Amino acid sequence: MRKALIAANWKCHGSLKMVDEFANALSHEPGVDVVVFPPAVFLAQYASRASHKADCGAQDIGTAETGARAGEVAGEMVSEVGGKWVILGHSERRSEQQESDALIAEKLAAALRAELRPILCVGETQQQREAGQAMVVVERQLQSALEQAAGSQLATGAIAYEPVWAIGTGLTATPQQAQEMHQGIRSWLYRKGDQTAQSVRIIYGGSVKAENAAALFQQPDIDGALVGGASLQLDTFTRIIGAAG
Ligand code: PGA
Repeated sequence: MRKALIAANWKCHGSLKMVDEFANALSHEPGVDVVVFPPAVFLAQYASRASHKADCGAQDIGTAETGARAGEVAGEMVSEVGGKWVILGHSERRSEQQESDALIAEKLAAALRAELRPILCVGETQQQREAGQAMVVVERQLQSALEQAAGSQLATGAIAYEPVWAIGTGLTATPQQAQEMHQGIRSWLYRKGDQTAQSVRIIYGGSVKAENAAALFQQPDIDGALVGGASLQLDTFTRIIGAAG
């Protein structure tokens, strides 16, 4: 039985006030892991406020350990301030920062060296879906990541299926569309001989809201959600956690 994972991806939103509000209120519900990803500058504050409650992590890390790399955050720094997780390969980083599959694979290796639990994001664009390439694209993204990490290492975190066309657009994948891809990802891991195919959590992201969360979570291969916009309001995010519990 896979435990649900509900993650809040604040992206470039938030404040110290919001950190305190969420850190004081959120906790792990029975059967649900809750993780908050504030902007990196707020991580230490979040972790110190929430030390016995919900976990937190970074939205990205650099590929290497500490060193002369202006502007980078190293995985070990995230760990030192109490972050336990890291999001890798988010589509906004793939498109806006031109992050390649190879770079994301390097970041995954760095995350594992720092003993962070990775959430590896994969997903196709609208154009790729219309061309019937959705699964091919996702398999390529997974294949590249798994060249740097064993499936069992990925299973310490999660895979997030986030169709690019559904992120921040209000266009959620239907529960059936999402389930089809999640099942496809699990079967692909299985075909690759991955022993963790049944236990790895595959969460969905892309316009998850309090209103559509329950229908998504009813699908057998949807193990939770990576929530962007709807994670910025405590009451809305709490309702999404409730839908998974
Ligand atoms: P959204 O973002 O919920 O605002 O669509 C999800 C994500 O990008 O992780």
